[in-house]
Amino acid sequence: MNIGLVGLGSMGLNLAKNLISKGFIVNAFEKNKRIIDDISLQNISGLKIYNSLNQLCENLSGPKIIMLSLPANKIDECIEELIKYLNPDDIIADLGNSLYLKSIDRHYYLSKHKIDFLGIGVSGGPRGAKFGPAIMVGGTQKAWNKVENIFNSIAAKKDNVTACCYFGSSGSGHLVKLIHNGIEYALMEALAEITNTLMYAFKLNQDDQSKQLNKVISTSSSSFLLEITSKILNAKSDDNQYFINQVDNKIDQNGTGKWTVNTALDFGVSIPSIYAAVSNRSSSINFNYSTKTEQSIENNKIFEINEVNLEEIIFFNFVCSLYQGVSVIFASNQLENFNFNIKEIFKAWSSGCILQGEYLDQVSKEYDLTGNFNLEFLYNLINKKIHNNLLSIRNFISIATKTGNPIPVLSANLSYYDSIFSNHKIGETIQLQRSFFGLHPLKDKRTKKDIKPYWTKL
Ligand code: 6PG
Repeated sequence: MNIGLVGLGSMGLNLAKNLISKGFIVNAFEKNKRIIDDISLQNISGLKIYNSLNQLCENLSGPKIIMLSLPANKIDECIEELIKYLNPDDIIADLGNSLYLKSIDRHYYLSKHKIDFLGIGVSGGPRGAKFGPAIMVGGTQKAWNKVENIFNSIAAKKDNVTACCYFGSSGSGHLVKLIHNGIEYALMEALAEITNTLMYAFKLNQDDQSKQLNKVISTSSSSFLLEITSKILNAKSDDNQYFINQVDNKIDQNGTGKWTVNTALDFGVSIPSIYAAVSNRSSSINFNYSTKTEQSIENNKIFEINEVNLEEIIFFNFVCSLYQGVSVIFASNQLENFNFNIKEIFKAWSSGCILQGEYLDQVSKEYDLTGNFNLEFLYNLINKKIHNNLLSIRNFISIATKTGNPIPVLSANLSYYDSIFSNHKIGETIQLQRSFFGLHPLKDKRTKKDIKPYWTKL
């Protein structure tokens, strides 16, 4: 296939460099003249830039794949124009963060024009794009067969495993990428909550916080996100200031977290920690709104770091959020044409992506042994590694709470775990409340026969 690439922003350009390093020639189009000028200065051999989409397509002989590296809201406009210049059996591949439902629609729309569509999630940021991203693909098998060698050659590789997977029909690749991002939000927020608690409750300075995380890096709780968090915590600017004391605290987001929450709600899957992370990004507009609570909270006690076990806390939170996210992918198997295999998901996330890490290798190793991905699996996974009925995690959460440190994701994960694995009467109480005011039917849990309390007789 001849390769066309539309969009030479930081992702597009680095993908182009990766492709070129693997021996491909990249023909490209970029609307923004300033970007083109910058790239011209770099003199990249193997990259040919054309002045219009029309010119780009005219100069690609034979069967072609046009890769789109564009913001989600620019895809349809670009497809609309490309249709005019492409021939039957040419392929359009959307490499951006698109909503999977859009990818399904685009597939049907383009198939009317006999053009194949691939919806491809690419993870790893611009650095990953250049040196090896994780690649998650959905679309027609026929189209994938024609281009898989291209994507396999540029994808990340670890221990002879290539982080590039074809998941099946259109939308499937972008669904896996979407859930990847939702989990990413929860893991980032969990680490931020942990280090914030280390700072304000355990009174650790930046270097000591970083040191504590470094200890976990050599364990099976480690991950790419843990490594970068340890680095950013004590990073300083040229004028010797910690960046953490300089940057604005309003958290940006591109919308993939919100899509993950909506998707989970649509499938009826509970993802409280992912929701908490998305929600806290929205709350960040009000962060440090007032310092009123500080005076009322007993904040003089210094807690000892050896009262808690960070390796366990991080592992627990990571696997709980991972489990919640992957459950959404599983639930989507109810959709026609979706048939996800969990092993392939772990393979796609094994390197190159933001979620990569030893904790994930551990989960996938355990999965290999049991072949299950259910609540029993989650329970065993957690309890094999974590001792004393999660005592350390409970302690950490209690310390954070007592000292007024926010922990929306950590507490969401612990409540998720306790809701599922402990004995309680929350379901029964709510069913009775519903029955009282709404006369909604009740069943006996053993006999399944109707129960009619006195309040149901009007
Ligand atoms: C990846 C990331 C990436 C994401 C941005 C920021 O897998 O490489 O998930 O795709 O878009 O890093 O996302 P937010 O702006 O939503 O934080």
